[in-house]
Amino acid sequence: EPEVIRDKEAMRKWSRTMRSQNKTIGLVPTMGYLHEGHLSLVRQSLTLADVTVVSIYVNPGQFSPTEDLSTYPSDFSGDLSKLAALSGAKVVVFNPKNLYDYNEGERKKKINGGGEKKVVSCVEEGGLGHETWIRVERLEKGLCGKSRPVFFRGVATIVTKLFNIVEPDFAVFGKKDYQQWRIIQRMVRDLDFGIEIVGLDIAREKDGLAMSSRNVRLSDEERQRALSISKSLAMAKASVTEGKTNSAELRDMIIQEVVGAAGRIDYVEIVDQESLEGVEEIKSGVVICVAAWFGTVRLIDNIEINVS
Ligand code: PAJ
Repeated sequence: EPEVIRDKEAMRKWSRTMRSQNKTIGLVPTMGYLHEGHLSLVRQSLTLADVTVVSIYVNPGQFSPTEDLSTYPSDFSGDLSKLAALSGAKVVVFNPKNLYDYNEGERKKKINGGGEKKVVSCVEEGGLGHETWIRVERLEKGLCGKSRPVFFRGVATIVTKLFNIVEPDFAVFGKKDYQQWRIIQRMVRDLDFGIEIVGLDIAREKDGLAMSSRNVRLSDEERQRALSISKSLAMAKASVTEGKTNSAELRDMIIQEVVGAAGRIDYVEIVDQESLEGVEEIKSGVVICVAAWFGTVRLIDNIEINVS
């Protein structure tokens, strides 16, 4: 099984030792409950870099108080076996307990007179003793940023912290979270992080459902209905190939399918692949992004369409 590092100073020391041996480092940030999508990122990292760090950390900073932080699935020992099956020796796991713990003692005292209090989200800023946030101002506004206003600042900030602790040469992200990938790419460019960001295609179940740690929370029946997302995205792409390039019509088609399967739509948007700005008529590369609820589970998916 891979070595597990829990302390950030130990992590930094490990990375610096690798560096001193002229080894390149890949980083795959995750929140655990690993599936084939995560593993495809790890495999990619192993081909790019000499050694790979997989971070497993459910970041409270990207959940709002009403979201599913406390029910986010986890299976740490299962995750370790999956990674062991890949390539144990070249992978280490960074699994910190709390990356916002610099003034733990003071925080407890301040917040509730010395009693224990579980950090539930970064919205309670004082509760984390943390006040520095990275915002990628334009890219974080649309799509998932609309219904989850503190999500991307939490993601950008934790990814920056991981970059500063691990100091990788490469970091691998999935296009499943398309906006997240673009935001990290942009942040790295804007702030001159010397890290190459690699984006990988969405791993899907055989029936087309985009793999996600949250899929286990779907009932069998909800899971079946959730297929309307990937199906309607594939239908929309086929329509574009047949010459239907009007975004409003394509959106309607997707909405009809998902609502027909009793999904509750958060958004369906057709946006430019880089700027993530909405387009009315498809003339160049776009990505169609969908977020929808099935029961209590919010799912996202997307499909890139390249027009030559
Ligand atoms: P998490 O949802 O665990 O995802 C970790 C990485 O796996 C992300 O880059 C995500 O895009 C990728 N991924 C998830 N499902 C995928 C799939 N079906 N195909 C391909 N890649 C997939 O994203 C996060 O964690 C967090 O926001 C994080 C970046 C770790 C910051 O906390």
